[in-house]
Formats: sequence, structure tokens, C-alpha cells
Amino acid sequence: MPIQAIQQDITGIDADALVVGIYEGGILPQAAQQLDQATAGGLNALLEAAEISGKAGETSVWLSPPGIVTRHVLLVGMGSQEAFAPPVAFRAAAVAAKQLASKPRNRVAFCLDADWSPDAVESGVCGALVGCQGQDLYRVEKNLHPFADVQWLTTESSAVEQGEVVAGSVNLTRRLVNEPADVIYPETFAETAVQEASDSGFDIEVWDENRLAEERCGSLLGVARGSDRPARLLIMRHRGNDSKHPELALVGKGVTFDSGGLSLKPSDGMKAMKCDMAGGATVLGAMRAIARLKVPQHVIGVVGLVENMVSGNSYRLGDVLKARNGKTIEVLNTDAEGRLVLADALDVARDYQPAKMINLATLTGACVVALGLDVVGLMTNDQPWCDRIAETAARCGERAWQLPMFPEYAKQLQSPIADLKNIGEGRWGGAITAGKFLEEFVGDTTWTHMDIAGPAFQDKAKPEIDAGGSGVMVRTLLELARSGC
Ligand code: BES
Ligand code: MN
Ligand code: ZN
Repeated sequence: MPIQAIQQDITGIDADALVVGIYEGGILPQAAQQLDQATAGGLNALLEAAEISGKAGETSVWLSPPGIVTRHVLLVGMGSQEAFAPPVAFRAAAVAAKQLASKPRNRVAFCLDADWSPDAVESGVCGALVGCQGQDLYRVEKNLHPFADVQWLTTESSAVEQGEVVAGSVNLTRRLVNEPADVIYPETFAETAVQEASDSGFDIEVWDENRLAEERCGSLLGVARGSDRPARLLIMRHRGNDSKHPELALVGKGVTFDSGGLSLKPSDGMKAMKCDMAGGATVLGAMRAIARLKVPQHVIGVVGLVENMVSGNSYRLGDVLKARNGKTIEVLNTDAEGRLVLADALDVARDYQPAKMINLATLTGACVVALGLDVVGLMTNDQPWCDRIAETAARCGERAWQLPMFPEYAKQLQSPIADLKNIGEGRWGGAITAGKFLEEFVGDTTWTHMDIAGPAFQDKAKPEIDAGGSGVMVRTLLELARSGC
């Protein structure tokens, strides 16, 4: 989708639709003032009549306003000007884009506020391109029609290009999550990543099932055994130009389908489990953005890819797996498979001696019970690192909240036969016992676990984004890499 920065009087813009931004309290950016003048005070009249308010996310359509070339104007509220920040730009643009994408349109021009900082422009452009993309991959008649051509009123043309890169990365993550498990399985996920690595300019290594066995990844391979689709593990590397050479490691859960295994899920709990590779897809999306934007920070991305299925070769309850770091694990629930995959993926990432590590996973339903559908759970062994992640997420407008990691929780993971068991005692605090399990595999590395089970995949559409894969945390990971570690 070509997107172009433009600078001109909006009355002359020739587009299928024009998005014009207004702030609360009747504050009009220059583009809105031009619209008001062209319509002989028509915009101010609508404000005075309280037909429009400028409240964040409020939209109204104005068809054929006099004095301008474009026949369709969508007014969008941007909230109070004092409270304005990049997440507001994202949301206003996304709400407008999603609404306009309900019909095919060749060219849409966004005239929100030409005075925005580069950060806000990047965020706004990203919102527009994420908002107009839907999950309707296999519908002949699309619900949302991504625009053929976008114009953006600003002098910050490089911020426009960067916003397009970020949106492409978020949309890549979303698409991979939305693809059915029969299309995206370990081998095809790996093929997609190899293609992305060559297009975006990062290095990639793919471990197949033989290499995984040589590397003693017994925990990950235990989960993979029940599937006809062989496991894979990705090691992606972005070489920044930072001479100090600290590594930031991003590790993703890539369970391309989670049936639960022998601890089989009921249909209702299984129907969205194509989304269980969202952590891995988020790492890939972030690597794409980090490489294309040539971030100075060195970054390594590790994704463990398996399908959790039922067969005569499935791993069983009571089986003991040996993880790559040497710890043995008694399996008491085959549906607690994500932590088994991450156990080995985290250990592989540690080979690169990262200064800081983050893992992302749709790990537990318990995290959704604790925090709801829209908030990512954070668990850490290093408070300052977790604080930085939480602050960065807030700056990006992505919701994240920390859960405690008191040592008492780890007692629940003791097994009479092995070093650990893969579930706690009963279901209480299940998000945290899962976090404590992961902690056993990070050694002394500074680490934070993100449980994205709630926000990664949404059953219902929001005004700013379609249902399905959300791409949550791609932008936060990019910002963390940009701010260095
Ligand atoms: N992939 C699921 C967690 C999940 C649930 C993701 C809902 C997205 C939405 C995970 O593998 C799982 O099954 N976890 C179990 C753990 C339990 C067996 C200890 C759960 O949450 O029930
Ligand atoms: Mn599971
Ligand atoms: Zn799972």
C-alpha cells in the first residue's frame, strides 16, 4: 500500500475520502481551519450545534461539503490537545481508517494535524494502516478493504515511512496469528521467517528436529511428539551498529496449534488455539521492524515452534522430560505445554549471553482471568527491567501490568520424581506458577515474561481494530530496542 507525505491546502486534495482531525473544545488544527473556511464556517457551526465535539475517537461523516474537491469527509475527534500523545494519534487514525475501509477506496488522505512530532506521525500512520486491515483473509467479499493509496498531511516524510514499516510488522504478526493452523505450522512458520529475514535484512538459522535432538531440547521435543508436523526452532539475529555489543533477546512461544494433547481441551477452549503461536509471531514482527529501521541495538529472536496434538506417540502424563539446561520435568498436564517449549527456547537464547531478555507467550488462561482480555501480564526477576518495559508499553498505548513472583509460588512446582513438575497445585495463581516455572530456565539473566494470552487474539472487533490477531507488543518491543539496553 503506497503511502506518501503531502503538504497542501486540503481544499484541493483529490481523494476518495479525507480524514480531518479536530481537538476537543473547538480547537482546530490548520487542516480543519481550511475546511471551516471552505465551507463558510460550516465546521464551527457543527461544533456550536454540538453535532461534533472532538472527543477522542468520535467520528462523523460529512458528504459533499462545499468548497473542496473531495466528496467524502470523515471528521475524527482527537481529544483534548493538552492530553495529546502518540497513542491518541494511533487510535484516531485507526478508528477513521477502519470505518472508511468498510468500502473499497482507492485513495484516502489523512489531514489530522500537520504540526505533529515525528513520533506522533509514525504512530498515526501505523494506526491508519493497522485499522484498515481485517482478519478476513479467506472471505471473497471482504469486510475491510485496505486502501490502495494513502496520503498523509505532514512535513515529516521519514516518520511516514517509518510508520509504514511499523504497520507492516504489526500486520505481519496479525496475519500469522489469523492464518489457520493448517496453513501456519512449524515448517511454514519457519519458511515465512526465512523469507522475512531476506526481505528485511536480518540473519536467521532454523533448527530442524534432528538438530533439536542434537541440542538436547527434550522439553520442546516432548511436546512436539504427538504431531505429524515436525518441530522447528528459529534463531534470528539483527546486528546493530552499537559497538558495546550488549544483546537484547526476544523469545517467543510458537505453538501453532494447541489441542491440549492428551489433557485434551474442550471444543470451546480449543477453537481459537491457532493463536497459540502469537508470542513467536510477535517476536518475528518485532525483528522485521527492528531490522528495517536499522536500530543500533543488537537483538536476537528465538522462537520455539511445535504443534501440541494427540496421537499414539503423544507425550503422556507422568512422563519425565529432560530440558536443554539439564533439569528434568514431570509432565502432569500436557496442556501446560507452552512453558515446556519456552524452557528450551530460553536456554538457547542464553547461549548468546544477552544483557536482557523478554519472552512472550499466550501462556495461561489464568492470566486472562486475572487481568482480562486487554492487559498483558508481566512477571520478572529484575524490577528495574520490568519497570522499563511497563513504562515503554504505556508510552505505546499498550496495556501491561505486573504480577508478583514471591518465592512461595515456586514450592508448588516441586515433584517427587523430577526437578520440577509442569503445573502448580490446583488452578489458583496459575499465571504466576507458569511464570515461576519459566524462571527456572533463565539462570541469572535479567528477564521479564509477558503473558499475552488475553490481548493477542480478540473475539470481538474494537472501533480501532478488527477481531482476531492484534499484534500487541510489537510496537513496545520495537521501542524497547530503540531505547537500547
Ligand atoms: N495456550 C494455552 C493458554 C491460553 C488460554 C491462551 C486462553 C490463550 C487463550 C496454554 O497452553 C494452556 O493451555 N494453559 C493451561 C495451563 C494449565 C493446564 C496449567 C490453562 O491456562 O488452562
Ligand atoms: Mn495448552
Ligand atoms: Zn498453549
